[in-house]
Amino acid sequence: MAESISGLKRSHRCAEVTTNEIGSEVTLMGWVQKRRNLGSLIFVDLRDRSGLMQVVFDEPVIGSEGFEKAGTLRSEFVIAITGKVQKRTAAVNEKLATGEIEVIAESLRILSEADTPPFPIEEDSKTKDELRLKYRYLDLRRPDLMSKLMLRSRAVASVRHFLEEEGFIEVETPILQKSTPEGARDYLVPSRIHPGSFYALPQSPQLFKQLLMVSGFDRYYQIAKCFRDEDLRADRQPEFTQIDLEMSFVEQDDVIDVTERLIARTFKETLGVDVQVPIPRMTWKEAMNRFGSDKPDMRFGMELCDISDVVKGCGFGVFTGAIEDGGSVRCITVPGMGGIARKKLDKLTEEAKGMGAKGLSYITIGEDGAIAKCSFAKFVTEDEQAAIVKAAGAGANDLILIAADRNKIVWEVLGSLRCSLAAELSLYDEKEFKFLWVTDFPVFEWSDEQGRYLAMHHPFTMPAEEDIDIINTDKKGEARSIAYDIVLNGTELGGGSVRIHRDDVQEKMFEALGFTPEQAHERFGFLLDAFRYGVPPHAGLAIGLDRMIMLMTGADSIRDVIAFPKVKDASDLLTDCPAPVDAKQLEELYISVTEDERSEV
Ligand code: AMO
Repeated sequence: MAESISGLKRSHRCAEVTTNEIGSEVTLMGWVQKRRNLGSLIFVDLRDRSGLMQVVFDEPVIGSEGFEKAGTLRSEFVIAITGKVQKRTAAVNEKLATGEIEVIAESLRILSEADTPPFPIEEDSKTKDELRLKYRYLDLRRPDLMSKLMLRSRAVASVRHFLEEEGFIEVETPILQKSTPEGARDYLVPSRIHPGSFYALPQSPQLFKQLLMVSGFDRYYQIAKCFRDEDLRADRQPEFTQIDLEMSFVEQDDVIDVTERLIARTFKETLGVDVQVPIPRMTWKEAMNRFGSDKPDMRFGMELCDISDVVKGCGFGVFTGAIEDGGSVRCITVPGMGGIARKKLDKLTEEAKGMGAKGLSYITIGEDGAIAKCSFAKFVTEDEQAAIVKAAGAGANDLILIAADRNKIVWEVLGSLRCSLAAELSLYDEKEFKFLWVTDFPVFEWSDEQGRYLAMHHPFTMPAEEDIDIINTDKKGEARSIAYDIVLNGTELGGGSVRIHRDDVQEKMFEALGFTPEQAHERFGFLLDAFRYGVPPHAGLAIGLDRMIMLMTGADSIRDVIAFPKVKDASDLLTDCPAPVDAKQLEELYISVTEDERSEV
């Protein structure tokens, strides 16, 4: 039977008790991790968010009733004990912060009993993810998960302190809003009062933060919840949090400077890690050419090498064809993989095909430094093979992987293999933090799906001054924008841009994106109107908070740093949502769901 807490006050958290408290009385409250009966003594490991404390029940001290009660304790019961701190009588536990001491209980209250949990609350338990997520509140009791969320809280506090000190003002922007143009699908919320009309949940506070600049807030920030209906990955959740900021009367360097100092301060205060500033910068073009990625992992080399010039005259149609079609032939050299098995090569080729490549060519080099195998040997001379090896800078026991295709595919294939193979070969220190700014992103990105150019960042991103004149020409694919991403260990941590504040440039941009003035006005009229009343030049950026904490804690997925995350199909296993709703609720919203869709649910 559960007892009342009445009159009892906790004096410490378990792991806050130290050897300084030896001889004094403490009152602790928490969960029973484990009970062991050792003859005339009962030992209980008591757990709270700070850690564990060993509690000893000795009949002469606690009395026979208390001792009997202690004998009924089971894992996850919630108890309160009062007792004296003493040096451990039995062996010291060096693994535990409180390993030298224990509390000899003088009184015990059972505040709440507990059913046997569906899995043990301990590290390294082999429990399946689905079960853990269904009982997330129990999984969160594990020190590992709990400490990640505690670190998240400290990091956010650090971010807020820094930004407040720098004169940023936190403003909350609406969650129910008009659809924002960020490229992902919106989550829609039906309106009861306006039948057939919908709000959208924000993909980011982008347009509102720009409006706040029009209002004169000058420096805005928000720890902002964002919602995007896109496929889940390890670094993507349908709802996530951004450290969102915007500044007036600034240029790119000002945003970069504040962001670097924000990151340096947060990493120092939260992890004790010194981030070297200024963080190196690289243009998008250089990043693609050298690493095949706009978010290169700088912890290792294995850079891409363009061998188009070397192979352009060879007899291998796959290579020459790709070059003639405007693509390229590039390679990476994988160290020490010269002895790669056929099966593994087939697997890599399948991976490349999954990214749209027609195949993957390779050359392996033997221990003696001579070419051992060349997948296209029939079509090229030995000299040509040797020229490739030389250009690639490959040596004994190396593997050269070659992709020939449209640049986009070549970059994606080699950029991705570079990362997966480096991880496999442990080419880097997992604990290292390597930051990079990627700048000068293209203004537009070609969409195969839509057969037209789309804004790579968003339609309010300023093109580079020198490229403004080409955004409406057939050279628009080459136009660069004043957009920048901050990358950490191969993950895009955040991104932002200088915004267009000049109406002539904005008009050109809409035209380039294929919007008629009417369409532009229908979608973004409120912003364009606002800009007519005096808009300061402004720029900003948003950092993915979940991603930052994932990298800070070494977690594999942002799921581990979000208290109640969604799973791959965007559902929440704990509350079992999304879920059908009552017919009456639908009726009020003027929504009808067809039988087919209902039965699929
Ligand atoms: P962007 O779309 O690049 O920019 O988003 C900024 C950062 O948010 C994080 N992020 C995500 N994190 C988890 N799950 C997701 N589904 C997800 N999508 C994005 C990433 C990303 O770098 N309004 C602009 C910013 C600006 O221009 O100021 C924006 O939202 O870490």
